[in-house]
Amino acid sequence: MKLLRQLEDYRPILAGIRRDLHAHPELAFEERRTSDIVARELSACGIEVHRGLAATGVVGTLRAGSGGRSIGLRADMDALPIQETNTFEHRSRHAGRMHACGHDGHTAMLLGAARVLAETRRFDGTVRLVFQPAEEHEGGARVMIDEGLFEKFPMDTVYGLHNWPGLPVGHFAVMAGPLMASADQFDIVVRGRGTHAAMPHLGTDAIVAGTAMVQALQTLVSRAVHPVDSAVLSVTQFHAGDAYNVIPEEAVLRGTVRAFKPEVVEAMAAGIRRVCEGVAAAHGVQVEVRYLHGYPPLVNWPEQTEIAARVLEDLVGKDRVHRQFQPTMGAEDFAFMLQNKPGCYVLMGNGQGEGQPGCMLHNPGYDFNDEALAVGGSYWVRLVEHCLPAATR
Ligand code: NI
Repeated sequence: MKLLRQLEDYRPILAGIRRDLHAHPELAFEERRTSDIVARELSACGIEVHRGLAATGVVGTLRAGSGGRSIGLRADMDALPIQETNTFEHRSRHAGRMHACGHDGHTAMLLGAARVLAETRRFDGTVRLVFQPAEEHEGGARVMIDEGLFEKFPMDTVYGLHNWPGLPVGHFAVMAGPLMASADQFDIVVRGRGTHAAMPHLGTDAIVAGTAMVQALQTLVSRAVHPVDSAVLSVTQFHAGDAYNVIPEEAVLRGTVRAFKPEVVEAMAAGIRRVCEGVAAAHGVQVEVRYLHGYPPLVNWPEQTEIAARVLEDLVGKDRVHRQFQPTMGAEDFAFMLQNKPGCYVLMGNGQGEGQPGCMLHNPGYDFNDEALAVGGSYWVRLVEHCLPAATR
């Protein structure tokens, strides 16, 4: 591996920042302390700082030379509503909140890269350092875009990364095309006629109709989606009734749909409505279906994926860059950025093995692996130097 010496030197400082962020996790759009730290660190390097996009977002702008080209690098800052089970020194100080997805590490790595880029300036053009709030479920990326991210801070391309437990430190997964799935949600309200549990014939049972819908919905993936395409439909909630001896009026079902292609998403959305209405008619109940589009599929652009892969192969060696990787049905709001700008999102090894920091994202025992800080930071710096080449190096 050819990591940047400066980033290896900074590793203790970056690990300090990372652990401080880990100890003070903040949820979506509440990343005030985190964004204060980001803004302070960027300013200390002489980087122009803009605050307030999507409430707590921070955008740093760094220029070198006179070139007109520009690149965006994005890190996410938010934590999750999870009670941490770790007992180490830098564990969360806040009950019910933790950095269980490594966004503390993503933020620290981009700060490290910013510091080196500001010092060395071996590039010609403009670098936008995008620190985004609310990646987890709330779509902070979309809010930043809606509030003018790409108009106020023009960039030709945009790149993102996420740590990936199970992949060794120093390894990366880089693939063109769909890497992560869309994430939509649905609510199904079934309305029957309540009655005494001993006299079902006098009512219309919302529970029986609802369970029939759960069963029938399972046929969508197997019957309504092309066999070569992927989709997941999970009913994750079923609420009905309060008593042993009452058939309730209403049942509420909720769940999520994941897929990689827009046409599959639309087939699922239409299928849910059709199946629920059909089953409702068969059972003599009313049904209301609400389908909410969440994150779109994350689709990497071929040209930028090739660039990212080449930079990584040069940095860590060809054998550590995995061009074939099983896409995940997890979702990521960087997908909104890739809908607007060419770019690439890569997965970076967080280590493997027993216990931490090998365990999976969103697990209460998860921790970002500080061994990866210099690796990820070096990737950002090398990517900028590759995409905005200086006349003389
Ligand atoms: Ni994450």
